[in-house]
Amino acid sequence: MTRSPSPAPDPEPPQASANDFVVVLDADALGDRESRAVWVHGRAVLICRVGRRHFAVANRCPHAGRPLAGGRLSQRPFGRPTLACPVHDARFDLTTGAVRSRLTQKRLETYPVRVVDGRVEVAVPPAHPEPMDDDA
Ligand code: FES
Repeated sequence: MTRSPSPAPDPEPPQASANDFVVVLDADALGDRESRAVWVHGRAVLICRVGRRHFAVANRCPHAGRPLAGGRLSQRPFGRPTLACPVHDARFDLTTGAVRSRLTQKRLETYPVRVVDGRVEVAVPPAHPEPMDDDA
């Protein structure tokens, strides 16, 4: 008995994953201690530059959910680069997202970032839609 070949399955829609790096900026678009807000896979992301290094973090403060864009970037000699929220001044370690403040205990979300051929690339998992509110 011979079997007819089964039809090819429908192709899966492309799914973005945290391993997918996306170009967001030219590497020289930001000067030292500058940042820029971008959207990646439906997430608000803040690209920061301190010295020669770039960092990518959620553009949403873990304290009260306000945007972190415009926050002060700094690095003390031999210290770690930090971002201070422009609203209540909570500070976060840009490398790990660790909190350097008593305002919150929640860690800032960080994302992998790299510079390839003069462009900044980040890997951000897709945002999950918020559950619908039936009362709305
Ligand atoms: S909203 Fe950022 S410290 Fe309060």
